[in-house]
Amino acid sequence: MSTLAPPSERLWWKEPIEKVEILWIAIALSWGIVMFIMMPYWHVVGKQNLSNEAYKTTPEAFQKKAQAMVDKYTVRTEGERQFPVVRPPAGSDIYMVARLWDWWPIFELENGKSYRLHLSSMDWQHGFSLQPANINLQVLPGYEMVVTITPNKAGEYSVVCNEYCGIGHHKMVGKIYVKE
Ligand code: CUA
Repeated sequence: MSTLAPPSERLWWKEPIEKVEILWIAIALSWGIVMFIMMPYWHVVGKQNLSNEAYKTTPEAFQKKAQAMVDKYTVRTEGERQFPVVRPPAGSDIYMVARLWDWWPIFELENGKSYRLHLSSMDWQHGFSLQPANINLQVLPGYEMVVTITPNKAGEYSVVCNEYCGIGHHKMVGKIYVKE
């Protein structure tokens, strides 16, 4: 008999299923349901993935808004590359630009005050990871992500890129200061 011959019983779904197979299907299905429930559950309880809003934008439009904020509220510059440190008024909209391979500018925020943080990319996908708070957001070109943040602990926070974005990915680190 050739292996190319059709199976004798063509209606395979009418064949009885092995007990072991049923067991594995049940395990896989239950685990799938658990993982599915974990998505909304962890959103609420884990507090790591904030509820965000997303709007369409362009790199040029977003850069313009960020530049206007930097021009208005820069208090000093930092580092060899003279990065602006921006101290925006409490409650305002603040714009952080992701690009190869910077988070721009640096913010100085007030503890306990809320800000509307806007994020967008100038080139391709980056990942906004705020450490050590461990807040994660995807940053994409053409989209403006907006989250309301209220720092609750003074200190120096790092913004680490957690989406691989090329040769300088590991050096793409930004900074946010939170003052008492
Ligand atoms: Cu930006 Cu990795």
